[in-house]
Amino acid sequence: MPLDTMASIINHQVLLASRPTGIPEAEHFEFAEEKVGTPGEGEFLIRNIFLSVDPAMKGWVNVAKNYSEPVAIGAVMRAIALGEVIESNHPKYAVGSHVVGTFGWQEYIVSNGDDVRLRVPDLLDLDVPLSAFLGVLGMNAITAYFGLLDIGEPKEGETVVVSTAAGAVGSAVGQIAKIKGCRTVGITGSDEKVGFCRDDFGYDVAINYKTADLEAALTEACPDGVNVYYDNTSGAISDAVYQKLAVGARCIVCGTASIEVWNPLPAGPRIERALLVNRARIQGLYIFDYLDRWEEALKELCQWFQEGKLNYREEFLDGLAQAPSSIARLYEGANKGKLLIRL
Ligand SMILES: NC(=O)c1ccc[n+]([C@@H]2O[C@H](COP(=O)([O-])OP(=O)(O)OC[C@H]3O[C@@H](n4cnc5c(N)ncnc54)[C@H](OP(=O)(O)O)[C@@H]3O)[C@@H](O)[C@H]2O)c1
Repeated sequence: MPLDTMASIINHQVLLASRPTGIPEAEHFEFAEEKVGTPGEGEFLIRNIFLSVDPAMKGWVNVAKNYSEPVAIGAVMRAIALGEVIESNHPKYAVGSHVVGTFGWQEYIVSNGDDVRLRVPDLLDLDVPLSAFLGVLGMNAITAYFGLLDIGEPKEGETVVVSTAAGAVGSAVGQIAKIKGCRTVGITGSDEKVGFCRDDFGYDVAINYKTADLEAALTEACPDGVNVYYDNTSGAISDAVYQKLAVGARCIVCGTASIEVWNPLPAGPRIERALLVNRARIQGLYIFDYLDRWEEALKELCQWFQEGKLNYREEFLDGLAQAPSSIARLYEGANKGKLLIRL
């Protein structure tokens, strides 16, 4: 479409209207619109196709200390998205190519490439839906990959326990652990998701933490203890897992989904004895620290995907109007797989 035509098109956006102290709800956002920008020299125009909904977005709007600056009030909500380049004055980004980046909850964005994280067509000629590059071949699976392999260092025959086991990150962790020859135990929040864990993601054991006696279930599922704990929740689930660590265990703190309010943080049992007695290690993960290695991970994920070793589930919400209430949906556990907004 010619530039003069594009300039008359409206870009619909979702802005942060107020700062939540806990989980962001619809009331914390507002809609806005502006004319679509015109790309200058070295810039290109992206039309977003899928917007990602991630638990991390709670941290991006919260004032509590985090690994990135909070989104400003009145700014477009920060979000990872997949879009198509529709105008380009940039030699690296051809019209018609697809890119993944922090493009925000909006329909269009003018970029100079700094906010691009992956260039889809450069990677592999795979027969997969584009949306997969926001989930099983995107940031969530890359998080699983580096958290499990770099920090967790799983060895064949070891037991790997995963919380939010049926989610976008968790389901990838469980499957990568199986690829590495581990026994996998998934913890999730409904019987339906227990079924996904067993049937779709190959967990050896899946536990519904809302109905099971978690300590008893973990004792039965991990008779030799937990060698690797991939922690996406913190809270009561982790308290139970830390009591079952094996000697030399490695724990990856990837997310704290069960902690609704960060200030003040809820108190819990001390874990130092469990770490000391088991000479265990616990380490936090921030996937953007690995940005220069994302393509390395993606190559291997694509390979496993082609070999049929990586399953995934996606859930789509249709239209930008669904965005403001979508983060809360994650914190209700209502999502059945990677949550995406389809524009
Ligand atoms: N460190 C990093 O760089 C990084 C990068 C990406 C993601 N993450 C983290 O990875 C975790 C999973 O992310 P995702 O994108 O894959 O999301 P997801 O697992 O697809 O969705 C979030 C899930 O969290 C669980 N949950 C919500 N409230 C909970 C509560 N009170 N207690 C226990 N579980 C609760 C729900 O699963 P159930 O129904 O099973 O309870 C929900 O489906 C999140 O904690 C996220 O912040 C970290």
